[in-house]
Amino acid sequence: MMLGKFSFLKNGKSEKKEQVFSDAHRVPEHVAIIMDGNGRWAQRRGLPRIAGHREALKTIKKITNEAQRLGVKVLTLYAFSTENWKRPKTEVEFLMKLPEQFLNSYLVELIENNVQVRVMGDMARIPAHTIRAVNQAIEKTKKNSGLVLNFALNYGSHAEIVEAVRSLVRDALDHKIEPDSIDEQLLSERMLSPLLPDPDLLIRTGGEIRLSNFMLWQMAYTELYFTEIYWPDFSESDLRTAIFEFSTRQRRYGGIKEERNGDK
Ligand code: IPE
Ligand code: IPE
Ligand code: MG
Repeated sequence: MMLGKFSFLKNGKSEKKEQVFSDAHRVPEHVAIIMDGNGRWAQRRGLPRIAGHREALKTIKKITNEAQRLGVKVLTLYAFSTENWKRPKTEVEFLMKLPEQFLNSYLVELIENNVQVRVMGDMARIPAHTIRAVNQAIEKTKKNSGLVLNFALNYGSHAEIVEAVRSLVRDALDHKIEPDSIDEQLLSERMLSPLLPDPDLLIRTGGEIRLSNFMLWQMAYTELYFTEIYWPDFSESDLRTAIFEFSTRQRRYGGIKEERNGDK
């Protein structure tokens, strides 16, 4: 996405510290975030891990608002992975209550702010109360036209790819598709994010340099950004820093330097 003139306020409303972005700087259309480091954030303060998860909700709210303000179109947040079931039962139960808590606190504001809530993941193992809350949010925001706030909940790339392959094989056996007609486009359409553009920028907080089974198919050409900052400490200005870094990257997709107007 190109922006004519774009202001990144470095420090809230302080005009003095404003960084003015030129035409050459781009805001990613789709930002995906691995929100990591909640447990360590809490432990560092001598608090139980769940205190970090609770704090994480405030960060989600702040970052959603800031992403929308900056002109991001889709914000995908990794909230719970298919591997997170390995955690102690009490922590898993707490994590499963968070979507509901988040929506109880912020749904009215999300509706007012024209945000569209979506979810991607395997809902089969998600508790009924969580599904109810999420479905209500999806329903109440479906006519909104602003930022798409996409929660990856019980999401794992391997499971997603396996399910996509299964659905294609079923269709082939039912003679609905020819095996030779299966291509990248068709497989993409069977993923859990068929209507979303692939992420332009991935941010992972918490210091780990890995993808942890997140959007492996969709992130073939995503720009990756890793920061040590724990998710509860991740601020609006940290998001702007990540987007600034993104805007300086040259995306080549295997080609050579693009001559398109505005690209670096
Ligand atoms: C991320 O924080 C939240 C989820 C995975 C649900 P963690 O709970 O993984 O925090 P750390 O990595 O242990 O600090
Ligand atoms: C990734 O974080 C999953 C989410 C943030 C939801 P993890 O904490 O589960 O990842 P690993 O175990 O460090 O790879
Ligand atoms: Mg972690």
